[in-house]
Amino acid sequence: MTLPSSTTQLVPEVHAIPQHVAIIMDGNGRWASSRRLPRVAGHERGLSALRKTVEASVEIGIKALTVFAFSSENWRRPEDEVSFLMALFLRALRREVKELHRNGIQLRIIGDLDGFSEPLRKAIRDSVERTRGNEGMVLTVAVNYGGRWDVLNAVNKALEQDGVQRSGTPRLTEDSIRPYLALSDLPEPDLFIRTGGEQRISNFMLWQLAYTELFFTNVHWPDFDGTVLREAIESYLVRERRFGRTSGQLASQTMPSIRTN
Ligand code: FPP
Repeated sequence: MTLPSSTTQLVPEVHAIPQHVAIIMDGNGRWASSRRLPRVAGHERGLSALRKTVEASVEIGIKALTVFAFSSENWRRPEDEVSFLMALFLRALRREVKELHRNGIQLRIIGDLDGFSEPLRKAIRDSVERTRGNEGMVLTVAVNYGGRWDVLNAVNKALEQDGVQRSGTPRLTEDSIRPYLALSDLPEPDLFIRTGGEQRISNFMLWQLAYTELFFTNVHWPDFDGTVLREAIESYLVRERRFGRTSGQLASQTMPSIRTN
């Protein structure tokens, strides 16, 4: 299969373009420090890289792109860096949403929004509302998000449900928790990308990444673009996704039946 647009490399036709790609955008600080710039310059360039990645994702035909912009643990950073990031999120929401909307992109924000200022919460509500009906790619930005928070939140919501509480033996199942997880209406990510050289999940979408293919690159996030995204997808396309089954079983089946989500 060849990827649409700029790539010319041929890869075997194994399975389709990932429907849902999740990215940890890491390496902004190191990108800036290596150029003797303040760390926040890396975040500023990180926003440009995100813009390019959204454009490339739409061009490639990805249906959902989820990016980790601020973890529950990022509050521990120096106060001026946190303030810069909050101001950057607010500015990005105010300036970028028009373009997202024009391109039919649906913007979602996941995470514990209670931690944010009222102007930021309002900008989030307004942007999400404005793009809610769009039928193009779903762009989700995870802010003040943590995978453990997401699972706990879902478990607590499931427990609040009458059916679970009142049944003789209250027992949660995967199916009773799943509807309350972030992005439960989307297919779970097919491909996870982390930039910046670290090889860990860092509390991102712990439940949803159970069967996701992982791709790590040393490229720092501000240098990420459609070329690196295509490289990640080409790596994904030649992998065998077995979902616990054997290669032999897969060979005798049509691909859609192996999906668990
Ligand atoms: C991780 O790099 C990056 C962040 C914590 C912030 C991510 C923010 C952006 C990409 C800006 C644009 C995003 C939006 C949604 C407006 P790091 O600072 O941990 O880098 P380091 O590991 O080199 O220190």
